[in-house]
Amino acid sequence: MKRLALALLALPLAQSGASAQNAGSPAAGKAYWERVAPRNVDCRNCHGGAGEGGFGPDLAGRGLSAAQVLRAVRQPWGIMPAFAESQLSEQDAADLAAYFASLPKPPEPGKWRFEVPPGAPPGQATLINMGCGQCHTPNFQGPRNNMGGYGMNFDYFANLVYNHTTAMPAYRAEIGNNATNLDMGNYSRSRLTVGQLRQIYFWARDEIGFRPQLAATLGKGETGPSGVTYPLTVTNNGVQGRGMIAEGLTVSLTIPAGHNVVAATGQGYQGVVNNVATWKLPRSAPKDQERLTITLSQPVTAAANLRGEVRWAKPAPKTGTDIPVNIAPAPL
Ligand code: HEC
Ligand code: HEC
Repeated sequence: MKRLALALLALPLAQSGASAQNAGSPAAGKAYWERVAPRNVDCRNCHGGAGEGGFGPDLAGRGLSAAQVLRAVRQPWGIMPAFAESQLSEQDAADLAAYFASLPKPPEPGKWRFEVPPGAPPGQATLINMGCGQCHTPNFQGPRNNMGGYGMNFDYFANLVYNHTTAMPAYRAEIGNNATNLDMGNYSRSRLTVGQLRQIYFWARDEIGFRPQLAATLGKGETGPSGVTYPLTVTNNGVQGRGMIAEGLTVSLTIPAGHNVVAATGQGYQGVVNNVATWKLPRSAPKDQERLTITLSQPVTAAANLRGEVRWAKPAPKTGTDIPVNIAPAPL
């Protein structure tokens, strides 16, 4: 506080008053904004990559003080979620204010990352209009996996939205997930009503549908006499007895140009057609893990890596088609 007061005194008259600046570091503010580890809150999804605005107002070059930033983050005026001390400290607010002051004022405010698509059902429109869609994309991909994997009821879901900063660590502890990042803030019940949140939840459950919590990962290649073998693991990370079961899975792996498939193992291997190796798995229930392998004539590189996806026939979205799960590439 003392430093702040001194900085205020040192400022020329024209810059004092409501737009007074503080002793924050623009470089530290930039690092916060750009999520340089250990930072992970993505204010940019709503306020733009250079604070030019988007779903939320522009912040660059407006002369916001540290106190104003802190107040906006702890007690947002409208529908912005509130961020806790652990996510944004008083020092972070000062650094951000200094960073915003260092940025040019945009000629006009930026655009939303995602607009409500024409003809969107009400639940999806609410998802986007309440800001959720700016981070979670218009089809709510991440949460739909977690909701499907946990068999999440409305109350549990609502607690994760309204009391995110305490409920999320508890949920992770329950499902044995050791991630510690906390990107999302706490939504206010008076700004995002229970009725609106129910609209989002039931759209996610009954219209676009929850998703089975599937993950697929390639492991490091192992060189043998006939070539390099890459393990491919398909896992259902859902909670046993509650999570969704996927049926009729298709695992497809695109073989990089110049590589030949020497061998492949695992259930339901279909061979290679048009440079795509395919496996068909009848089902994957929570905690099931399928281990497949593919052996290539030569190792993959960063530029020519194996890429692929997992699709499943059931459960299918009630409307439209769903996005597959991407296979995480092999570490090099
Ligand atoms: C979900 C979108 C969203 C996210 C994420 C978000 N904001 Fe906001 N922000 C808004 C909106 C919308 C407003 C306008 C007031 C309101 O609706 O609460 C706002 C207002 C503000 C204001 C007040 C601007 C003014 O004109 O006084 C500041 C400062 C601010 N946000 C900073 C941040 C920071 C820092 C973060 C990240 C820690 C952040 N916001 C994350 C949407 C967002
Ligand atoms: C600033 C980006 C952001 C906004 C805005 C946001 N979320 Fe999230 N949300 C996340 C991230 C990232 C996670 C993972 C946990 C974390 O990092 O906090 C998450 C986690 C969740 C979870 C817990 C299950 C899971 O997938 O991890 C639910 C449920 C959820 N969000 C729903 C919503 C809803 C509903 C809204 C709008 C009312 C919303 N989120 C707005 C980023 C956001």
